[in-house]
Amino acid sequence: MNERLAKRTEGISPFYVMELLRRTKELEAQGRDIIHMEIGEPDFPTLPTIVEAGLKQIRTGEIKYTAAAGLPELRDKIANFYLQQYSVTVAQERIFVTPGASGAFLLALGASLNPGEELLMADPCYPCNSNFVKLFDGKTKTIPVDASNNYQLTGKLIKQYWTPATKGVLIASPSNPTGTIISADQLEESIRTVNQIGGCFYSDEIYHGLVYGEKTKSALEFSDNVFVINSFSKFFGMTGWRVGWLIVPEEFIDATEKLAQNIFIATATHSQYAALAAFDPNALTELEHRRAEFQIRRDFLYQALLDLGFGIPIKPEGAFYIYADCSKFTDDSYQFALDLLEAEGVAIAPGKDFGAYEANHYVRFAYTISIDRMSLAMQRLEKFIRKG
Ligand SMILES: Cc1ncc(COP(=O)(O)O)c(C=O)c1O
Repeated sequence: MNERLAKRTEGISPFYVMELLRRTKELEAQGRDIIHMEIGEPDFPTLPTIVEAGLKQIRTGEIKYTAAAGLPELRDKIANFYLQQYSVTVAQERIFVTPGASGAFLLALGASLNPGEELLMADPCYPCNSNFVKLFDGKTKTIPVDASNNYQLTGKLIKQYWTPATKGVLIASPSNPTGTIISADQLEESIRTVNQIGGCFYSDEIYHGLVYGEKTKSALEFSDNVFVINSFSKFFGMTGWRVGWLIVPEEFIDATEKLAQNIFIATATHSQYAALAAFDPNALTELEHRRAEFQIRRDFLYQALLDLGFGIPIKPEGAFYIYADCSKFTDDSYQFALDLLEAEGVAIAPGKDFGAYEANHYVRFAYTISIDRMSLAMQRLEKFIRKG
């Protein structure tokens, strides 16, 4: 053990899929054709109008710090987005523009979590969120969830797992890795439960634009006393621009502002100007076409995996992932993913990247590639499975 290394880094779990990614690069360097279904990133390029808006600002040379909470006009647009999409009014002061949802989490947890305090979250879930908690010397208590609750938390589960050390609850809906959505009743009950106890409720709504059934409710439709995390990365197709946002309860505004000033000073200026263009009606229409394309891909992949014998108890309603039960083929989903990559050149993410519960029986497929490529991936997967 390196004495100079901070102890908290021991608790941060590695991303196993990065190991896979490293191997894909080696195989590609050897000339192998690798089909990438492991990465949570839309394959579509950023819309040209958004790129142009960012470039236009760069050309002015005025790439100075903005206000720590972000450009006022962008905060206004975000407030307006909530009015249009969810019929809720959010005061501009509660909105912080951040370097992605990741930056939003740093501010939300920095402003609300004390060392030793614990957050409840679902298992499986997106691993970075729980690693952020550890970064602030907090603890995570994961709650195993399954298809019976849409792989999401409920008020009952929250009550059951809450202890005096618990500070709050973090949900992500649509979920990464399962793509499932918390029902409106589950969400309302969960928020009510946390508010009654006096805890903090964090809602990761980064996949909200990417839903394929009924419109999803924002936590803000049920309470102002919630942290809402969102981003331009996924629906808006701007992963590398590093721009997202955070909405905080009123009592956290000043503390969040101080943290934003100190930690980031501001989010990248040209990215904020680019994000302004993302709310343009023509851009939103174009993004809606992309959403429809994701839905077609979801339907294709869902059926193809079922036909091959994978278990998918709930048809995912959002994001761009299918979390599939592969226990018919293996008891070690990580080895399964490694072997599939070596034998057939198809890269997928192992369950253990998302938690411990039943992780060895699950793998995550991202449908962030064309139907043609997915079709080829399914042929290779079938060959791999048949060989046993
Ligand atoms: C559930 C979830 N939350 C947050 C993030 C972080 O996104 P960002 O690029 O906005 O930092 C991701 C990225 O994959 C995610 O899947």
